[in-house]
Amino acid sequence: MKVLITGASGLLGKALVQRFESINPIACAFSRASDSQKKVDLSDVDQIKALLEETKPDIIIHAAAERRPEVCSQNMSHTRALNVVATRTLAEQAKKCGAWLLYISTDYVFDGESAPYHPYDQTNPLNAYGQSKLAGEIEIQKILSHYGILRVGILYGQTTNLEESAVTTLLSLLDQDHAVVDHYCRRYPTDIKDVANACWQLVQIANKSHNFKGVWHYTSYQALTKFDMLKAMAKRLGKAMDHIKPMCSPVYETPRPFDCALDCKDLFTLGIKPPKKFSKGIEFLNK
Ligand SMILES: NC(=O)c1ccc[n+]([C@@H]2O[C@H](COP(=O)([O-])OP(=O)(O)OC[C@H]3O[C@@H](n4cnc5c(N)ncnc54)[C@H](OP(=O)(O)O)[C@@H]3O)[C@@H](O)[C@H]2O)c1
Repeated sequence: MKVLITGASGLLGKALVQRFESINPIACAFSRASDSQKKVDLSDVDQIKALLEETKPDIIIHAAAERRPEVCSQNMSHTRALNVVATRTLAEQAKKCGAWLLYISTDYVFDGESAPYHPYDQTNPLNAYGQSKLAGEIEIQKILSHYGILRVGILYGQTTNLEESAVTTLLSLLDQDHAVVDHYCRRYPTDIKDVANACWQLVQIANKSHNFKGVWHYTSYQALTKFDMLKAMAKRLGKAMDHIKPMCSPVYETPRPFDCALDCKDLFTLGIKPPKKFSKGIEFLNK
């Protein structure tokens, strides 16, 4: 089985490459591509076509995306090229070479007003990021008859650079004189290793059954605000938190959903285990 992973230099992509290491995946990245990875600009349709013609994978895991909400709102053409057009092109090329495509999507396809969300509940993204990821989902569903769409929540995990995750980047606030942190939006922090493992299991099923198809959800069931997450990490590190103030109303310029609790039961019935609790997931943080 030949597996191609896009976004291999990203937060989730690195965990995916590690999880699929035993079968030697084809890892693609762009500005941070290492020597062992293929450097491909997915915003260039011709480069995607050339990549697929050269590699002819059986499975594609498409994790590359512009996922910073503010960047998406400010640079719509870049966001559209990467999150929508590249996804469409990958789906077209997957169809051509008979590959099964697993698209990593987001809980931001929902508006956060009526959680918990089942995979086929009404979507209504509030910002350009969520809209572009949903548009990517729609492209895949239009083009392919067999595919996987895996929506995940906010991601964290052991990385070389803590700033790579919207969760662990909060730690830099502990060294500031004072800071205000979101204590309003409910999030479900999910460990990248658990997501990578869920992808591994989905790929094993897809490799056996070519008719495998679905939209699935995978997040932790533990609701935490960013303030809660920072508190848990500060406790783990034995650091003071008195100078950090919780903000109990929306803090973002770019709108974000209030609560996107996802119903993940469909994955659990496939034998995939729920993600670990946050306190367990941050054990890699050392004093
Ligand atoms: N992070 C989260 O909290 C979160 C939450 C929900 C869903 N998701 C979804 O999960 C997936 C993975 O997110 P992530 O956090 O791992 O993202 P990330 O850390 O921001 O990484 C983005 C990846 O996309 C690649 N990329 C960017 N522009 C590219 C281009 N023009 N051509 C080719 N590759 C390009 C980057 O490569 P280079 O850096 O090498 O350029 C990098 O590997 C995304 O689909 C995202 O929507 C993430």
